[in-house]
Amino acid sequence: MSEQIYIFDTTLRDGEQSPGATMNLAEKLRLARQLEALGVDIMEAGFPAASQGDFESVRAIAKAAGDIQVAALCRALPADIDRAWEAIKEARMPRIHTFLATSPLHMEYKLRKTPDQVVDLAVAAVRRAAAYTENVEFSAEDASRSDKTFLCHVFEAVIDAGARVINIPDTVGYAQPEEYAELIRYVIANTPGSHKAVFSVHCHDDLGLGVANTLAALNAGARQAEVTLLGIGERAGNAALEEVIMSLNVRCDILDFAHQIKSEQLFPACRLLSMIIGRPIPANKAIVGSNAFAHESGIHQDGMLKHRGTYEIMTPESVGRSQSELVLGKHSGRTAVKDKLEDMGYNLDDEQITTMVAAVKKLADKKANIYDEDLEALVLEEIYRLPDRFKLCHVSVQCTDTGVPPMAAVVMEIDGEERRYAGFGVGPVDALFNAIAHLTAYAPELQQYAVNAITGGTDAQGEVVVRLCQNSICAVGRGAHPDVIMASARAFTNALNRLAKKEQER
Ligand code: KIV
Ligand code: ZN
Repeated sequence: MSEQIYIFDTTLRDGEQSPGATMNLAEKLRLARQLEALGVDIMEAGFPAASQGDFESVRAIAKAAGDIQVAALCRALPADIDRAWEAIKEARMPRIHTFLATSPLHMEYKLRKTPDQVVDLAVAAVRRAAAYTENVEFSAEDASRSDKTFLCHVFEAVIDAGARVINIPDTVGYAQPEEYAELIRYVIANTPGSHKAVFSVHCHDDLGLGVANTLAALNAGARQAEVTLLGIGERAGNAALEEVIMSLNVRCDILDFAHQIKSEQLFPACRLLSMIIGRPIPANKAIVGSNAFAHESGIHQDGMLKHRGTYEIMTPESVGRSQSELVLGKHSGRTAVKDKLEDMGYNLDDEQITTMVAAVKKLADKKANIYDEDLEALVLEEIYRLPDRFKLCHVSVQCTDTGVPPMAAVVMEIDGEERRYAGFGVGPVDALFNAIAHLTAYAPELQQYAVNAITGGTDAQGEVVVRLCQNSICAVGRGAHPDVIMASARAFTNALNRLAKKEQER
């Protein structure tokens, strides 16, 4: 019998700490639903003490969650723990995840505490959390650079205080697989009471070893893996969920573990995340990149035709990458749109369906075939957008080679009032962005501008992603439209709205 392992997804918490990966409440709820469909055992919904917004999104995710454990992160502080519980108590299976650093460097310089004080704080935190729920996880931050015997001492004490999951993070992505596996083995073997807890790992990818370290740790006795979709997370990110899962599936001959992940949901989940955070999936990304199943060289193509196994270790279908299916067109009615959205996991109310039917018809006027990806982009734009302060009404851009510089005229609604402006730029996008910036009275630095076709075909919707920064606040915006100039205008306006919201929260 294969041993069961638990997949703990932290895309909504550690993942959201990735620069530019902030999500609004509706987007987080949508992603949480997809994580349930994917089959993760535990989803870490956020860090409630970080801000009122974080608290509210964790609470909303907890309320909406079905049979899935919902974790909230908190420092080992009474107020943080109480706040975490307040946020998740309505979940069917809530978990409090408290953490405290245990490495000499962190204890001395960051916490300014002695090892004995750290043990006392950790025990007090776990006791407080255990008074709320039996489902308590303790993480020893920077465990991979901590003293092994001290770790065992801390873990013995917190297990005694009620922790049922013990996490041994490689917080700074410093560990090497064999060394990390050795640490896991040592700690499990030398912590009195270790049989009462599930040991967990959480690996960062600073040296590109997050997935390798996670797999090594599972082989060494860990039974929970903390991972994120697309490996997003603090700095270089975390171990990528889709890579860990497909290693387990493809190499079950030597990685003999059972898990609950429905691998056909991997690609839809990663694609959804990529659309929400406005970060295209790199073409060469393992498992879900557009090149991951493309065979370019003649020798490889020849081999594939003779036997797929020559160059293919898993099928695209097994990770949910079927050919884009034609889903809707000009003549699709309300029921077709509603059914398709339900199939894709969107249960929208009547008003939202009406909005989507109108959006589908509008898109179908410009583009003959509408695919899953198009529909996903429309939902994110039409339904999950925050109520916007800046609304784009009309855009006209002229770009000729008659010596007249490119020009953009823009009409917007700003705080409920219509405003117009026209101006020039060195190119059409520059003219457009200048006009929008002028109207909104922002002068952000454009740090990133990327265009991507959502599907194949020259009539595909263009998806534009921009990253803007002003006064040390940065925001990512995305926009989709068959006309890339319109997509650019939408992305720029979306980023400005997010920037304005962040400024207000500050
Ligand atoms: O990387 C880390 O140590 C963490 C902990 C809070 C688990 O994210
Ligand atoms: Zn982390």
